[in-house]
Amino acid sequence: MHDVVNCPSAPGGLPLIGHTLAVLGRPLSFFESTRTDDPLVRVVIGRLQVYLANDPDLVHRIQVDTDTFERGRFFEVLAGHFDNPPIASNGPAHRGQRRALKPVFNRPSVRQYTDAIVEEAEALAAGWRPGRLPDVRQQLSDVVACTVLRCLFSTELSTEDVHDIQRTIYQVARRLLPGTLLPAAVTQVPTPGNRRLAEAMGRFRVLVERLVREREEHGQGHHDALSALLHARHGATGRPLTPREIRGEFLVLLFAALETTSTTLAWALYEIATHPRVAARLADEVDAVLRDGPATYDGLQRMPYLRQVLHETLRLHPPTLFTRRTRHAVTLAGVAVPAGAEVGYSPRAMHRHPGLHRDPARFDPSRIGSEGALPQGAFFPFGVGAHRCIGEHLAMTTMAAVVAAVVARWTIRLPPRVRVRETISSMPHPDSLPLQLTTRPSASRRSARYATARYSHPA
Ligand code: HEM
Repeated sequence: MHDVVNCPSAPGGLPLIGHTLAVLGRPLSFFESTRTDDPLVRVVIGRLQVYLANDPDLVHRIQVDTDTFERGRFFEVLAGHFDNPPIASNGPAHRGQRRALKPVFNRPSVRQYTDAIVEEAEALAAGWRPGRLPDVRQQLSDVVACTVLRCLFSTELSTEDVHDIQRTIYQVARRLLPGTLLPAAVTQVPTPGNRRLAEAMGRFRVLVERLVREREEHGQGHHDALSALLHARHGATGRPLTPREIRGEFLVLLFAALETTSTTLAWALYEIATHPRVAARLADEVDAVLRDGPATYDGLQRMPYLRQVLHETLRLHPPTLFTRRTRHAVTLAGVAVPAGAEVGYSPRAMHRHPGLHRDPARFDPSRIGSEGALPQGAFFPFGVGAHRCIGEHLAMTTMAAVVAAVVARWTIRLPPRVRVRETISSMPHPDSLPLQLTTRPSASRRSARYATARYSHPA
């Protein structure tokens, strides 16, 4: 039995305001600075206290021990924007909803979506011209949004609607970290920004309600997430989901899918553009598997280096913070933590831990799978346990298809004198991503039939 000890404070706390300024002003370096030798540190933000785990075993336990830990503020704030649907809850309601959605995300389903995914990916790469692409982020966001809408909801929306959804999601994402850490009284003040978000959410809801209505009236025989939601039943009562719950589930799925996948893709292209040797090895692998044709599901599984590149991107550029809440009092690393306490962990701090990964800030895809047996909580790009990402296989397939389509046609570099910086929303993302494009010899043998106006090269 350990002695109960006081929880040490994370470095940099100030009298009265604790870590508030550091967390809000420089969250990226702050969460890395909390990675001390203490397995658990206390972060104080205003009146909120978060016990932050630094030890990989502890981080793992917080994710898998659902008897002790339930979702905390981070997910509550997110779910609150979407009317708290069952997928964002805890316990049996959450498990039942996951079961209902699982078939839509399994390997056979993703195999079926792959033609649509590859079509969007090829269209993106076929629409570019040699020279400078001013900022690729919007197009990456478009390709992910169109793919997810086509695969999960069997729908193709106008570019205007897609952009409206993206803007709304971006606004929600920007508010997540401050929303988790600051009292509601501060974040819900009716500022012009909050009013604009409320209006945007209103439009978002109307759009989803229209899609659900159209499906109920006309659409039979679809095997997609919307259909799974319409057929889902609550375990305890057997009643169907209410229209409000369906709408909330739809919104959470879109949110969970879009920002994460498009941001990771942007970082993947950034890393490829700044590591010519990685780019060359990747191009060799893509050429050998694709042989001038579009990717297939099986072909994408035969690209191990591409998978390493994506995993290394996810290691270096994950979300900053996740939180859970204790269901009962528990002793963690010798510290007595009360019931109802917020307990957090930073994927960024763990993934860049010098004690766990050699030369951790360096982008090196070959480290993936070759660093020996890492402790369980050292690398978890899609989480673990009951809340592990349901969309992992869809996300990996989408990202692999886009990177393969780009690399097959283009050599990408950052233009001279460009410096890309990290900014933070729900996860760190590049503040811009201009690319210098050079045609690869094999590009002329690739079909132009996929090109569409949606992804044409911006002026
Ligand atoms: C690169 C892309 C993605 C990354 C890095 C990612 C990461 C994650 C992580 C780390 C979690 C666990 C959160 C926690 O433990 O609290 C999670 C959960 C989740 N993800 Fe993803 N995700 C990605 C793409 C997607 C996609 C495409 C979907 C599809 C809709 C999706 C849907 C979800 C859902 C619904 C959950 C909550 C699962 C639950 O609690 O049962 N994600 N994701």
